[in-house]
Amino acid sequence: MSPRRRRHALPLAQLVEQATCVAEQVRAELHSVHADPDERWHVRLHHDADVDVWLISWTEEQGTQLHGHGGSSGAFTVVAGELDELVWDPGARELEESTRTRGDVVAFGPGYVHDVRNTREATAVSVHVYSPPLERMDFFDVERGPDGSDRLVRLAHVWSDDPEIAAPESVRGPAAGRVAS
Ligand SMILES: [Fe+2]
Repeated sequence: MSPRRRRHALPLAQLVEQATCVAEQVRAELHSVHADPDERWHVRLHHDADVDVWLISWTEEQGTQLHGHGGSSGAFTVVAGELDELVWDPGARELEESTRTRGDVVAFGPGYVHDVRNTREATAVSVHVYSPPLERMDFFDVERGPDGSDRLVRLAHVWSDDPEIAAPESVRGPAAGRVAS
């Protein structure tokens, strides 16, 4: 009987390198990219015991909700277009918003909680790398605590290897801090 393989994350630098390399392949049209305004299009390009790699397209107003990656580390990079990202800052106890543009790479550890959305007309394309491969997605909201400061509240989790899995319907909705247009 072989011992069960221990799950571990590859170094972040390696995840960044892999995301960047695959993004270059996408720009070189080595992978097909589709856009679906009804449902965010995504495909897994690679999977092994240590890492999985996804290619995702985002039409206007397609986005996630505030989520974590079940303990996986990761990296993502924008191949084309622009993405707005809200990131929970546990020190400041607030969501910080950034715009990620073509070529930007974001690397993150297992505690990372974020929300990603395309608010522009042009379809955005991104490459996402997770290590160890995703097993669970966690969904969060931000609530005002009794001491007056904001806190992160986990609403639900879903066991899945799909980074685009939807949150349970009971907790689905716009991310906290997102201004409705
Ligand atoms: Fe994510």
